Amino acid sequence: MNNTTVRLRKPNAKDGYAVHQLISQCPPLDQNSVYCNLLQCSDLSDSCILAESDTGVIAGFISGYRPPARPDTLFIWQVALHPDWRGQGIALKMLTELFASQSNATALETTISPGNVASETLFARFFEQQQMQVVKHTLFSSAEHFAGKHDDEVLYRGSKATA
Ligand SMILES: CC(C)(COP(=O)(O)OP(=O)(O)OC[C@H]1O[C@@H](n2cnc3c(N)ncnc32)[C@H](O)[C@@H]1OP(=O)(O)O)[C@@H](O)C(=O)NCCC(=O)NCCS
Repeated sequence: MNNTTVRLRKPNAKDGYAVHQLISQCPPLDQNSVYCNLLQCSDLSDSCILAESDTGVIAGFISGYRPPARPDTLFIWQVALHPDWRGQGIALKMLTELFASQSNATALETTISPGNVASETLFARFFEQQQMQVVKHTLFSSAEHFAGKHDDEVLYRGSKATA
């Protein structure tokens, strides 16, 4: 385990290639193209967050976006923590800081493939901490949307109760 301090910040285009390399070390995440990671780090920078060690290593990255049809929502695309930095609460801290930085966001959505216990636990902790009510349903099914070549993607939507 690496205990060196990490600082959280917005990514920029210069981080895109390092993010791509980080994700390759974080199965079961899908590896997207470098170009996709570059767009996340530039155009979607406001809804993404990066953890950088004091030696300049990219230790963590969360990609997200604000779905145009649901302006109250932050959708989390991927969460990646380098294996050396896991188990220190960094992913939960990144998620919390990212959500807090979003204007007018009262809901958070993500998809999780059944059996990804680390992801299920991370988001369960986040929803508890935010006192959000959670609903879930299969958004993309293995048979219908992935030609059986990928697990189901189950959507979790946590939202703050309205008064
Ligand atoms: C999932 C991942 C981001 C967690 O990063 P992390 O910084 O180690 O997570 P945290 O330390 O913030 O843990 C948050 C909670 O999840 C739990 N958790 C983390 N990894 C876990 C694991 N492998 N198994 C069970 N629970 C786990 C922690 O115990 C903690 O819960 P607690 O407060 O009850 O102890 C990291 O393991 C990872 O990058 N995995 C590979 C990619 C992936 O699956 N990403 C998620 C899908 S988008």
